[in-house]
Amino acid sequence: MIKKLIRQTIKKSLTGSRGLVLHNDYPDIAKMNIKDLGLYLHIPFCMRPCFYCPYFKEKYNRKNAIDYSSAVLKEMEFYGDILGNASITSFYIGGGTPTTMVGSGLEEIVEAVKQSFSLKCGISMETHPNDIAPSMIGKLKDMGVESVSMGVESFNDRFLEIIGRTYRSRKARDAVSLLMESEFKCVNIDLMFGLPDQEIKDVEEDIKAAIELGVDQISAYPIFTFPHTKLEEVVKRNGYSLPGIIKRRMMLKKIEEMCYDAGMERTSVWAFTKKGVKKYSSVTVPRYIGLGAGAGSLIPNFFFINTFSVEEYIKFIESKSRPPVALSIKFSEEEEMLHWLYWRIYETKIIKKDFEEQFGRDFDSTFKKIFFLFEVMGMARDEGDKIIMTDRGNYWVHVLQNVFSLDFIGRVWDVCLSEKWPGEIELI
Ligand SMILES: C[S@@+](CC[C@H](N)C(=O)[O-])C[C@H]1O[C@@H](n2cnc3c(N)ncnc32)[C@H](O)[C@@H]1O
Ligand code: SF4
Repeated sequence: MIKKLIRQTIKKSLTGSRGLVLHNDYPDIAKMNIKDLGLYLHIPFCMRPCFYCPYFKEKYNRKNAIDYSSAVLKEMEFYGDILGNASITSFYIGGGTPTTMVGSGLEEIVEAVKQSFSLKCGISMETHPNDIAPSMIGKLKDMGVESVSMGVESFNDRFLEIIGRTYRSRKARDAVSLLMESEFKCVNIDLMFGLPDQEIKDVEEDIKAAIELGVDQISAYPIFTFPHTKLEEVVKRNGYSLPGIIKRRMMLKKIEEMCYDAGMERTSVWAFTKKGVKKYSSVTVPRYIGLGAGAGSLIPNFFFINTFSVEEYIKFIESKSRPPVALSIKFSEEEEMLHWLYWRIYETKIIKKDFEEQFGRDFDSTFKKIFFLFEVMGMARDEGDKIIMTDRGNYWVHVLQNVFSLDFIGRVWDVCLSEKWPGEIELI
């Protein structure tokens, strides 16, 4: 109830409207004259899905993966016809676990992207410790993968067991070392903190291990309890306790302190990158098209997501020549600006000129109320041409994320997972 009220107040004060209505309209992209954009490819398969994970995925099965690959090729043909002349300046393969589909259709998709679009960048891709071996590294390099991210989550066997990961610390360390020897532009590892029964010293040991292994980037996420996952149920059933907000704040402070001492800088709310390394990031461009089931696309005035069902995705693509849109939002200009601002705050740095180029408006006069408040509260620093979020600011973004976007995303995903073609929903 309180969350709902805060959410409504924030949204109303920023955009002047109370709720967001999502439909299933499909925008006419061919008329939009998009010159450069990013590509996101969603691979919705994992060998053993984790009970706490909110992402759209299902258990890997070779036949489904191959059928899925054929459907993605068809979806791409459609976009290739209307956007083939646009430059692709960022290509991200996420999941699920994309490396599950190496050898069952992923190479073919990547090759078709190269044929259908004007690709001006390397590929960034997610992987899993169990998938990393010298033969896999060779395949990733052959595809053109330049940067990789791997979900390690913890280097402590006890916590790996509690969260049901299927490898142990030795395997994770070997996989990290192999990636580090393989000359990728950036190797990111994900670690989660605030795990069931975890103490600050355990987090300290995980960060220490990552720094000793020399990774280029550490993404440290507090474990979030999304309503559609089994995390809460598992914690209750086993009598675990999840660290409270104060302990999580102390854990994050420890992570910040250790990463800064190791010469890393903050490059997003959760990520710390070695100085001089190009950060690993999924969202690097303001416009992107998402391929595959559950993928999101952001184009002028529109955000839309494809159906959250591999089966429905394949069926739809076979019978119709348009994207399988489950839900779409038509943004007002204020909403689009807010969406832009949200991601820049997430990246902890806001370049005012970028906003002015995209929206043709003066940054300072558009957002003066918000940043006046942020500065007074010590959450941001105005450096003239840019705004830098402080560590305190980043912490409050995390709190806000819980109140606003997690709830928001949680509800959209809840609907999309239970109804494959929801039609219309209103979020307030
Ligand atoms: C797509 S997965 C990473 C790649 C691969 N599937 C793996 O698990 O190794 C994305 C990351 O999201 C994070 N994640 C998953 N569930 C989460 C949750 N409930 N709260 C916070 N982070 C979560 C984990 O750190 C995970 O590595
Ligand atoms: S954390 Fe990674 S392996 Fe686990 S279910 Fe999520 S995407 Fe799959």
